[in-house]
Amino acid sequence: MASTYTQPMLRDNALAGKTIIVTGGGTGLGRAMTTYFLQLGANVTITSRKLDVLEATAAELRQQTGGKVLAVACDVRKYDAVEAMLARTYEEFGRVDVLLNNAAGNFISPTERLSHKAFDVIVDIVLKGSYNCTLAVGKRWIAEQQPGTILNIVTTYASVGSAFVVPSATAKAGVLALTRSLAVEWAKYGIRSNAIAPGPFPTEGAWSRLFPEPLASQLDPAASVPLKRVGQYQELANLAAYLVSDFSAYVNGEVVTIDGGEWLNGAGEFNKLSALTPDMWDQIEKTMRR
Ligand code: HXC
Ligand code: NAP
Repeated sequence: MASTYTQPMLRDNALAGKTIIVTGGGTGLGRAMTTYFLQLGANVTITSRKLDVLEATAAELRQQTGGKVLAVACDVRKYDAVEAMLARTYEEFGRVDVLLNNAAGNFISPTERLSHKAFDVIVDIVLKGSYNCTLAVGKRWIAEQQPGTILNIVTTYASVGSAFVVPSATAKAGVLALTRSLAVEWAKYGIRSNAIAPGPFPTEGAWSRLFPEPLASQLDPAASVPLKRVGQYQELANLAAYLVSDFSAYVNGEVVTIDGGEWLNGAGEFNKLSALTPDMWDQIEKTMRR
């Protein structure tokens, strides 16, 4: 049977009537998730710093999906800007049901080469940006006694850390703690918090900063994935749509990894033995049994 993971998964109109805010929604994975949310009948506000990028994406997605998408410029590091973006969304759509914290900044570097401002810029976008949006939206939901869903995009190294992306690892770990903490504290208000930890999904934004030349020609991101491939946008969008939909009503405080087994591959003591051939295993078994 042909693979179905590149096909849309949820039923038509699964998100009809919902309004979703997607930070970093003009590009990459944010754009891909937005596209599917619109196809499923949601209204979506996409927000980031670059209005021209957002407006171009919004125009293309309106054309492609027939959905309602609002482009609002907002630097998520600035609380006032977040509140203004939220107010604009309420004005346009009258409600907000879902916050998707997806905006991020990242680049590879030995940590000792970073200035304190370089560390700040990543932590501010990822962690401060996520808690600014969460606080602004959560306060409003709680005041209006309206239920809501928060979905945070983290990374597999949010749990285990990673060398050479230390500000990002530090900040994503904070976002994971935010997710799990509020899953408990705000459940009484009908607010769920979950996270997705993606493995490698090629995007211009990530690849230009994480696999620049000459690294790109020397390092295959799929090689460390047991399934030997990178992620496809639709399979991430399927998972995100499920987690923001009412079908996942009992899922709260979860972080769902979607990485083809990559992080576990790096973790298991004997995983590198995957490189052994059957002949080598024959030899090893003979030696051991002797
Ligand atoms: C060292 C750097 C640097 C680099 C910037 N800086 N790039 N230091 N190596 N490559 C330093 C600057 O010198 C400056 O410090 C400080 O960081 C701020 O830099 P600015 O360029 O002024 O910041 P800004 O214009 O706000 O841009 C932010 C940015 C940029 C993060 C640097 O890359 C950006 O806009 N990124 C957004 C999108 C993005 O990063 N997407 C990838 C997400 S991928 P000084 O001291 O000189 O003032 C991801 C996936 C993870 O998260 C998992 C993958 C498997
Ligand atoms: P991307 O296209 O570069 O997305 C990052 C987005 O964040 C951009 O749209 C950017 O738009 C926005 N942004 C950056 N700073 C902002 C700020 N201060 N305020 C508001 N928006 C800001 O990269 P991506 O690969 O799609 O990444 C999306 C998410 O997936 C991120 O959380 C990333 O950590 C996560 N992720 C990606 C991968 C992967 O393999 N691609 C793997 C694991 C996790 P502006 O520049 O217009 O502000």
